[in-house]
Amino acid sequence: MATTIRRAESGDTVSLGALHSAVWTELYSDVLPPATLASLDRATMAELWGRFITRGDDYVQFVAEIDGKIVGFAGVGPGREPGYELGRELYFIVVSPLHRRSGIGKALLKQADVDYLWIAEHNRAAQVFYRKQKFFPDSVRRVGALFGTELPEIRMAR
Ligand SMILES: CC(C)(COP(=O)(O)OP(=O)(O)OC[C@H]1O[C@@H](n2cnc3c(N)ncnc32)[C@H](O)[C@@H]1OP(=O)(O)O)[C@@H](O)C(=O)NCCC(=O)NCCS
Repeated sequence: MATTIRRAESGDTVSLGALHSAVWTELYSDVLPPATLASLDRATMAELWGRFITRGDDYVQFVAEIDGKIVGFAGVGPGREPGYELGRELYFIVVSPLHRRSGIGKALLKQADVDYLWIAEHNRAAQVFYRKQKFFPDSVRRVGALFGTELPEIRMAR
């Protein structure tokens, strides 16, 4: 089955919201309070996606599709570091659990063409994935705030 990578469109928001909501639960059920997780439901995430897609030319989202079904996505935009600019930042990348380890994340990241990213310290699997794509920790760490919950993160750059 061939994977197609294309820009996200307004008609994708329902599918993207469903996948994004499911992955929040996967990644953050041990981190975020249950009420916060519950609030990140598919409808809320679909609405958020509507805003991502219309945010402006500097902000780009890609989807990976197999047979017309969205199986992954990535979001890219200007670096959000306060006070300085490191280039393009990867805001998120997700592949559906059913389609992992078949090169889709790699294809999305290549298309995203970013300079750096922040990743939760506890997300070791994604860190291995990024290292394989030649992104390495640059020794900068922060405690980010994820919907009001503190989350230690490391920065990886290439
Ligand atoms: C991280 C993620 C996007 C990787 O997507 P993927 O499609 O499974 O990755 P790929 O198949 O393209 O893998 C590319 C390389 O990374 C390696 N890799 C991917 N996931 C890995 C893992 N969990 N452990 C070890 N290696 C991994 C692959 O073996 C492959 O190596 P190779 O190039 O030597 O063959 C996917 O696991 C995911 O969606 N995770 C949940 C969301 C997430 O954590 N996102 C990051 C924070 S927003």
